[in-house]
Amino acid sequence: MKNDRIIIFDTTLRDGEQCPGASMNLREKLEVARQLARLNVDVIEAGFPVISDGDFEAVQTIAKEVKGPVICGLARCVPKDIDAAGKAVAPAGKRGRIHVFLATSKIHRDFKLGKAQHEIIRLAVDGVKRAKKFTDNVEFSPEDGSRTEPDFLVEVCKAVVAAGATTVNIPDTVGWAVPDQYGALIKHLYDSVPEFRSGKSIISVHCHNDLGLAVANSIAAIRNGARQIECTINGIGERAGNAAMEEIVMALKTRSDALGKYDCSIKTREIVKSSRLVARMSGLVVQRSKAIVGENAFAHSSGIHQDGILKKRETYEIMNPQDVGWGGTELPLTKHSGRAAVASRLKHLGFKMTDTDVAAIFARFKEIGDKKKFVYDDDLAALVEGHITEVPETWSLEYLNVTSGNATVPTATVRLRKVTAKKGETLQDAGIGDGPVDAALKAIDRLTKTRGKLMDYSLRAVSQGKDALGEVAVKVDFGDGEIVTGKGASTDVIEASARAYLNAVNRFLCDGGAKKTKQNQP
Ligand code: KIV
Ligand code: ZN
Repeated sequence: MKNDRIIIFDTTLRDGEQCPGASMNLREKLEVARQLARLNVDVIEAGFPVISDGDFEAVQTIAKEVKGPVICGLARCVPKDIDAAGKAVAPAGKRGRIHVFLATSKIHRDFKLGKAQHEIIRLAVDGVKRAKKFTDNVEFSPEDGSRTEPDFLVEVCKAVVAAGATTVNIPDTVGWAVPDQYGALIKHLYDSVPEFRSGKSIISVHCHNDLGLAVANSIAAIRNGARQIECTINGIGERAGNAAMEEIVMALKTRSDALGKYDCSIKTREIVKSSRLVARMSGLVVQRSKAIVGENAFAHSSGIHQDGILKKRETYEIMNPQDVGWGGTELPLTKHSGRAAVASRLKHLGFKMTDTDVAAIFARFKEIGDKKKFVYDDDLAALVEGHITEVPETWSLEYLNVTSGNATVPTATVRLRKVTAKKGETLQDAGIGDGPVDAALKAIDRLTKTRGKLMDYSLRAVSQGKDALGEVAVKVDFGDGEIVTGKGASTDVIEASARAYLNAVNRFLCDGGAKKTKQNQP
C-alpha cells in the first residue's frame, strides 16, 4: 500500500458527547473544537445537527469559527437529517463534510428497520446523493458494519462509492469485532472495491470498546487498508466508549518497528492538554491508570523502577512523557499576580477569552488567590471551565454556612440570589441532612423549588497541596429523564458541591426544564 497517511477523525463532540451525562454546552464544545484544531486532527465530527437546536447551533458555530480541520455533521439517511447537516456545515465551505449512516446488518435490517437488502442499498444511495448536493465531501457508514454479511457489505460499499461517497466507514457499532477477523474484513473490502485501491474513496473504521478491543481493532484495520480512524479523546463515547485517539496515535508512533510506518498529523504534545480539557468539559474523569493520559501513566512508584529510570530512562519508559505533553508546568500565579499576567497565562493555555471573560475569571482568581498560596495552571483551567459552563444564571450563591462534625446534626444555611428577579431578590433557608453536602443541596432544592436526584458525584483535587482547589462534578436527574451535569470549584469542597449543584439547577431551568429531544441517536 503506497499511502501511509492516516486521517484522524475525531468524534469526541458527537459519539463522545452521546455518553450519558457528558453533554456539553455550546461554549464548552467550542473550546474543545479549538483544542482539537490545535491538536491538528484532520476531521472534527461536531455533532448530529437534526437532533436538537443546540446540536445544530454547535455544529454551525464550529463550522464558522474553527479553522483548519474538516467539520463534519452526522445524519441518518433521511432528507430532513441530511438537509440539517448540510446547512450546519455550510459555513466551513469546502471543509464541510456530511456523514450519512444506515444500518446494514441482518439483525438491524430484520428487527430495527424491517427492510430488505435492496431497499437498504436504495436508501443508502439516495442519502449519499442528497448529501452530495451540499458538499463533495460525503462519508457513508453502514451501521453495524462488522456484523454485516461481508459480500452484502461489498455491494453496499460499491453502491455508495458509485453514488459519490468519498469515505466509507465500517463501524464496529457494538464492539463485537476481534482484530484478526476485523482486519480480514477490511482487507476483503479493500480487495473487492477498486475505488478503495485507487484512493478515490477511503476506508474508515469506527470501533467501540465493549470488549476492550477498540484500539487493537483500529490498528488491525489500518494494517489492512483503512486510512481513516474514528476515535475520541480519552476514549469517551457510547457505552464502553470509542477507540482512544491518544492510544492509537502513540501505538503507531512507538511501535512502527512492528506495526509498519504510518504518518498522522497529530501534534502529540497537545495530547495531555486535550485530555484534561475534554475531561473537564464532559465531566468524565480519566481513570488514573489510563494509558498515555492517566495521572499514573508515567508515575514509577517502585524503587527498582525509579532506580532503573534514573540510570537509563528507557529501562522502564517506552515513551517520553514530554512527547505527549506531560511536564513543563509554568511558575504558578499568586494573589499578587495582576490581570495582565492572568490574561497572558490564559492565552498561553490556549483559551480564547474576551475582556469580559478575563474580568470574570480574574475576579474568581482573586478570591482563590486569597485562600491559597499558589494558583496553578490547572486551577486556572478549572476557573475557566466554571466560567464557560455557566448558563444564564437563574440563581446565584450568595452565602453558605455549614455546621458539621461527628457529634452534630449537619446543618447548612444557604442564601441565594434570584438573578432573574427584577430587584435581584435574595432568599435564605436552612436544611439538615446526612452530611453537610446533603444539607446544602436540600436547602438549595427548597429555595429553587426543584427536586434533584443526585445520580453521580465526583470530587477531585485540581492541583497539588492541602490547599488545592476541589472540583466537583454532579449528574442530577430532575425527574424528566434527562441527566443534567453541573460543575463547581472552590478551596472549600462543600462550597464546590453547592456551586456544582446550583450549576445543574441553572442548566435545568435554563433549558426550560431540560426538554432536549435527543432521540434516535445511533
Ligand atoms: O457506532 C456507530 O455505528 C456510529 C455510526 C453513526 C458511525 O456511531
Ligand atoms: Zn459509534
